Parts: sequence; C-alpha cells; structure tokens
Amino acid sequence: MAESPSTPAPRATANRSTTPGSDAFKDYISSGWAERPVSLPAPRESAAFAAARRLRISAQHPGERLVIPAGPAKVRSNDTDYPYRAHSAFSHLTGWGADAVPGSVLVLEPGAEGHEATLYFREAAGRHSDEFYANPEVGEFWTGPRPSLEHVAADLGLATRPLGELAAVLDATDASTRIVREADRELTDRVDGRRLMAAEIPGDIEQEVDAELLRDLSELRLVKDEYEIAQLRQAVDATRLGFDDVIAELPRITAHRRGERLVEGTFDRRARAEGNTVGYDTIAASGPHACILHWTRNDGPVVAGDLILIDAGVELDSLYTADITRTLPVDGSFSPVQRRVYEAVLEAADAALAIVRPGIRFREIHQTAMGVIAARTAEWGLLPVSAEESLEPERQYHRRYMVHGTSHHLGLDVHDCAQARRELYLDGVVEAGMVFTIEPGLYFQPDDLTVPEELRGIGVRIEDDILVTESGAVSLSAGIPRTVDEVEDWMAGR
Ligand code: GLY
Ligand code: MN
Ligand code: MN
Repeated sequence: MAESPSTPAPRATANRSTTPGSDAFKDYISSGWAERPVSLPAPRESAAFAAARRLRISAQHPGERLVIPAGPAKVRSNDTDYPYRAHSAFSHLTGWGADAVPGSVLVLEPGAEGHEATLYFREAAGRHSDEFYANPEVGEFWTGPRPSLEHVAADLGLATRPLGELAAVLDATDASTRIVREADRELTDRVDGRRLMAAEIPGDIEQEVDAELLRDLSELRLVKDEYEIAQLRQAVDATRLGFDDVIAELPRITAHRRGERLVEGTFDRRARAEGNTVGYDTIAASGPHACILHWTRNDGPVVAGDLILIDAGVELDSLYTADITRTLPVDGSFSPVQRRVYEAVLEAADAALAIVRPGIRFREIHQTAMGVIAARTAEWGLLPVSAEESLEPERQYHRRYMVHGTSHHLGLDVHDCAQARRELYLDGVVEAGMVFTIEPGLYFQPDDLTVPEELRGIGVRIEDDILVTESGAVSLSAGIPRTVDEVEDWMAGR
C-alpha cells in the first residue's frame, strides 16, 4: 500500500533494532559496574597559554559576556556525522583540541575584576541514566567515555559546569553578550532570542558586535606564542614524514589507475598516525591537474614524465596544522622545461623569504614574489608588455599564470586569522612570532594559447611555512627538499 503523503518519514534510526525497554533490562544494565578510579591529570601544556590568551580578550571586552562555542557535530549524511572538529577560537581559548567534547561552550562572564571563565560541557553520564547504552549520538557504549567535570577542570585549568546549566546563565539579563555566531547556530539563536526579549540591541547591530568579537579573536592569533610555534614545528615535521611516505610509495602510486588517491591515502595515513588528521583536504594533482589550484578530487593517474603537485599538511591533536606544497617529477628527474618553470617559482619563493623580517609590510612579500614571476614570464615572451609594465596595478598580465596570493597566516586554521582587519593582515606590519606561508606558483593551463605548447599543462607551486624571528625569518619547512637537486636526490633515496 502506498503511504499517504502526510505519513511522517521514519526517524533515521527507527528502522534499526533498538535497545530493550523492559524494566528488567534497565535494572540489570544499570547495575554491576565497577567504581571508576578518580585520578586527576596535571594541567596540559597548552593550559597556561590558553589562560594568557583569555586574559587578553578579556581586557578588550570589559563588562561584556563573551560566548565562544566549540560547535556541535556536523551531519555528513542522515545520521552520520563528519569527524568532530571544534571551532578554532574555542580551541585557542581553552587549549582543548581533538579531544574536545562536541557542543561545549566557553563563557567569559564579566566580574568585578576582569572575566571569570567557565567551560560548559556534557560531562560523563552515570549509570543511573540510560544514556550510556541507549543514545547512539553521545552514549558511552556508542562513542566512548566522556571525561568528568573534575577531570577537564584539572586538565585545562578551567572551571567547568554541566552543559545543562548554560541556558540559565545565558538567559540572565545582567550582561550584554557577544557570541561567536558561526560556531553554533542553535546557541546563537538562543542568544538572539534573549537579546530580542531584553531589547538589548537591535538585530542588525547584534550581528555587528558579534563580528567584532570574531575579528578580535582572529587578531589575537596573529602573533603565535611559544606553545603554538612548537606545535607548528611539530606539524611541519609530521608533514615531512607524510611526504617521505608518498615518495616511498611511488611505484604503487604510478601503477594504480587512480594514483592520486593513493597519494592522498598515503599522506592521510601518516596524518592520522602522527596527528589528528589533515588540516585541509590534500591536493594530489598530477600532470595538468596541477593547474587546478584546489584539485582535491584526486582521481587521476600519476604518470611518469609528469610533475605531481602535492599540497598537504598534518593537523596535530592540538589542531595546529602545517601547509606545505612540493612539486615532484614523477619519474625522479625534471625535464629541462619543467626545471625552468620550477626554478622560476623557487626564485620567487626565495626572493620573498629573503625580505621577511619584523617591520616590513605583509603585502611586500607578495609584491616581491610577483616581481620574479613577472620578470620570468616576460623573459619567456608570455606577456604582451614588459615585466615593469605588467607589474603596474592596472595591468597585472603575469597574474594569468598565478591568480592566487603568495602568503596567508597559518595556525589552528590553515588560513588562520581570516577575520583580522586588513590593516593588521594584508596591509599590516610583520611582527616576530607571526607564522605564514610563502607559496608562489606558475600554472600554465593545458588550453592556454598564450603559452608555447611545451609549457601547457605544467603547474608548479612551492609552499613553505615561515616563522618571523626578532631579526628575520626561518622556514620551518626548510628541511623538506625544495631545490631541483635536493628533490631529485630525495626521490632517488639519496
Ligand atoms: N592548501 C591551501 C593553501 O595552500 O592555501
Ligand atoms: Mn597555503
Ligand atoms: Mn597549501
């Protein structure tokens, strides 16, 4: 019989067997469990750094309640979620990384002296509730145990309260509130509803005050602390291992019809083994796919004679990620034309790195790289004007072959500090402790009639992760081969 259109769709789990509902079963499963040992951890390394960051954002927002949600798990399909990842602003201010409990919320409550920080989260459920065996979303038998309030308080050096108490705190009307809107829609709706009732501020202004908080939290991350720098170094080191793995796997990669997938899988294996996961989808772009800047479908073959561009980064359990690109000759040696393109990109990268020191403007890094890109493409006869003319802001012909920027900040997000004001980022002054990429490239599309045939289908990017020091800069990824000779030696196992 056909269902009437008004019959509600079955719940996602309604067609699967469920736990028994008999009282006998409930009594039985609720008893007979051993006591759990209570041993509290020492604060993790990130705790003191996170506390210092909270003090800085607190000083910027006296008298305001600040709400920074980790965010809920996100649905991938039906009742299957993506692997959980907390919002970066939340991780930055709590030090809670890959092991953060979904749905947690950090609240900075204004008090007489600065803010009091409280972390609200869904703590371990006891055996008195049926959650632990009957709730596939969060039950211990389904997704593993959650820590207790006391455990997290000791681990992160933060006051903790049950998530269930949060609503009452937010509904209290004695403080104006700012929330990181994008992190948790439901919670944001709740805060907006409360603002409406209190007529605290009109709707369009609330978006603005929230955006200011997000901006401030983004700018808080522009200069990395000692812990963050150590994490980024470690992420780069793990990424190096992932690249080594790919090279060791090349015979199998080239033998497979979807070799790019094997590159991705090989790197992913290392990322999962050493860290949390990859910081962004791996780009494994062989041959002409290298001309597609964010090629992540990765379903092509890896063919001898071509170059393969691999843009990949390991994200650690702390959620700090590397972002590194190497372009490798699949058969181990660059052809003369591949070498010519590669060396032009390398020259641009080296020139850009050479100017980095505190006091320069961030945009000068890109301008320096573009000087080289314009010079080489002009020298090869690709531009309708001279390099100098092409570099004029209203011309920019050379950008046909590199449409992306040269640098972005790096940290918890691969494109970190994205909401920072332009005057502190693109137009900002470079400071010691900043970490960003330098990643020039040249991409000659397979159907680009402005370039000679021998260049068509060649794409090269070289991307390194740079730390600004008091006197200049160091490349955290300098140890990953990048000159032509180094790359050829690397691939030959030398
Ligand atoms: N992996 C993305 C980027 O390089 O910005
Ligand atoms: Mn990048
Ligand atoms: Mn990249």
